[in-house]
Amino acid sequence: MRLQDRVAIVTGGARGIGEGIARCLAAEGARVAILDLDGDGAAATARDIGDGAIGFACDVALEADAVAGVERVVRDLGGIDIVVNNAGAGRGPIPAEALNSFGGGITNVTQESWDETLGQNLRTTFLVSRAAIPHLEARGGGAIVNISSIAGFTASPTLAAYAAAKAGVISFTRSLALELAPKDIRVNAICPGFLWTRAWQGMATAIQASNPAYADATPRDVFLDMVKRGVPMGREQTPEDIGKVAAFLASEDARNITGQYVAVDGGITLQ
Ligand SMILES: NC(=O)c1ccc[n+]([C@@H]2O[C@H](COP(=O)([O-])OP(=O)(O)OC[C@H]3O[C@@H](n4cnc5c(N)ncnc54)[C@H](O)[C@@H]3O)[C@@H](O)[C@H]2O)c1
Repeated sequence: MRLQDRVAIVTGGARGIGEGIARCLAAEGARVAILDLDGDGAAATARDIGDGAIGFACDVALEADAVAGVERVVRDLGGIDIVVNNAGAGRGPIPAEALNSFGGGITNVTQESWDETLGQNLRTTFLVSRAAIPHLEARGGGAIVNISSIAGFTASPTLAAYAAAKAGVISFTRSLALELAPKDIRVNAICPGFLWTRAWQGMATAIQASNPAYADATPRDVFLDMVKRGVPMGREQTPEDIGKVAAFLASEDARNITGQYVAVDGGITLQ
């Protein structure tokens, strides 16, 4: 119970990686607040976790929502010790029109989708951190864990905007870590590899639709083929894998670790 009596915000925690993180933090004793676009999903996940967890609707890409969400957590749970900036990827299941442009190269990326991707993955991290930092300071310290991606430090020609946003998350993590070190607030990032969440389900559907070699495959087959060919350890990563690292980074066990990013990818980025 390394996080006993701590309060943790997990953005995008209604499902997928964020849900795994919320469960792992709660298992270590934290009271968890899930802020998600999907308010019903956030509340349902919080109910299932129990242990005083709360969940409500909040669009953390919007300044007013992010600020109001953080203030609500302070009001309802008495303060904040841990922030996990996990919200990112898409705002919902990948839309049909996005499938056609997938893999089409940078000339197919509109300004609108570029801005949307950076807003979803980078502005979210900035807004929630900025709103929460005074509350971490009020507790005498704390921890921020940002969910980047292996795309944040590898070349990703089919996902250039996403990769730029996730590289931005790593850069922001390092800058913030140095700024906040004297306040005993640690800031680290996790770079997940391949996880079968809604985000990858959408990508696998797009790859399947645009690649004749996968004509008879299901999206799950496509994903497992990616895992087989791309992951040296031969297995997919899970939300719990990410949650366990987040719990460690948020805990006193990591008291002298700040400004780092950790790939949880079964060796994908070693090749
Ligand atoms: N799945 C992977 O393989 C993978 C790999 C690397 C990094 N990531 C990153 O992990 C994070 C979680 O992804 P996932 O795979 O669990 O995705 P997901 O789509 O399964 O879940 C994302 C959750 O975040 C919520 N969300 C999205 N935008 C939001 C916003 N603006 N405000 C509040 N909530 C918002 C969604 O409603 C959803 O509940 C993302 O930052 C993603 O980029 C995922």
